[in-house]
Amino acid sequence: MKRILLLVLLGLAAASFFAGVVSAGSVNAPEEEIIIKGEKKSARFSHPVHLKLGVECGQCHHDSGHQPLTDSSIAAMENSESLRCATCHNENFSNAGLQSIKDAFHQRCKECHKEGVNGIKGPTKCKDCHVK
Ligand code: HEC
Ligand code: HEC
Ligand code: HEC
Ligand code: HEC
Repeated sequence: MKRILLLVLLGLAAASFFAGVVSAGSVNAPEEEIIIKGEKKSARFSHPVHLKLGVECGQCHHDSGHQPLTDSSIAAMENSESLRCATCHNENFSNAGLQSIKDAFHQRCKECHKEGVNGIKGPTKCKDCHVK
């Protein structure tokens, strides 16, 4: 009886392991630092630096209903177009305070850098994020 239970458990563990491998799709967080281009300025951002802090995708990425996106919902996307903040945060956005790329990014990036994650703060000087 115990043996059958063990086999069933092993089977379930293997099934969920393979399901995990299969569900990992094509859209994943870039390993390299990315450059976010604005109209006048650009800024740099590294996924690995932030993911190492234990931050979830959904702390930065959300959908059109402002629901957080998960690793697997992002992986299932066809391309990364709907992850681009300016796809929604532009002059047509419903909330006037979040229409410019500057408003959306500064609110997300700078507030967390000031507050910190588990006691680790982020940089807050213009040149720490902005590149020529
Ligand atoms: C924590 C990172 C961070 C810091 C610190 C920061 N910014 Fe930004 N800022 C961004 C990001 C990301 C964007 C969006 C990409 C871009 O336009 O460069 C942005 C956008 C902007 C824009 C809009 C640029 C455009 O082309 O539309 C301006 C202007 C700006 N920042 C000025 C500043 C100034 C001035 C400071 C210092 C007082 C500063 N930022 C500090 C991350 C930062
Ligand atoms: C701390 C904030 C933050 C976290 C956490 C985060 N991202 Fe991002 N991600 C960004 C920003 C900012 C961009 C650039 C958006 C833009 O260009 O408008 C981006 C872009 C992307 C892109 C598009 C890259 C490209 O070059 O086209 C992918 C794919 C992506 N993220 C996946 C993920 C996944 C998967 C996770 C979770 C494992 C994640 N991100 C977590 C901030 C974050
Ligand atoms: C698919 C559309 C869409 C995309 C893409 C998108 N947003 Fe949003 N965002 C929204 C909506 C909808 C709200 C809610 C607005 C409200 O409550 O008035 C929102 C709210 C916000 C807010 C204020 C509330 C909060 O969560 O703190 C910030 C800051 C923000 N977005 C930043 C970003 C950044 C940075 C990115 C890119 C990493 C991004 N958004 C991508 C639709 C989007
Ligand atoms: C949830 C909190 C959080 C958010 C959101 C966040 N950061 Fe950070 N960031 C941090 C922390 C904490 C550090 C310091 C990490 C360390 O010292 O290991 C950091 C470090 C950095 C650094 C310096 C390390 C490096 O990559 O050279 C840059 C640049 C940076 N963040 C840019 C950004 C930008 C741009 C955004 C918005 C798109 C952003 N961050 C959003 C928490 C955050």
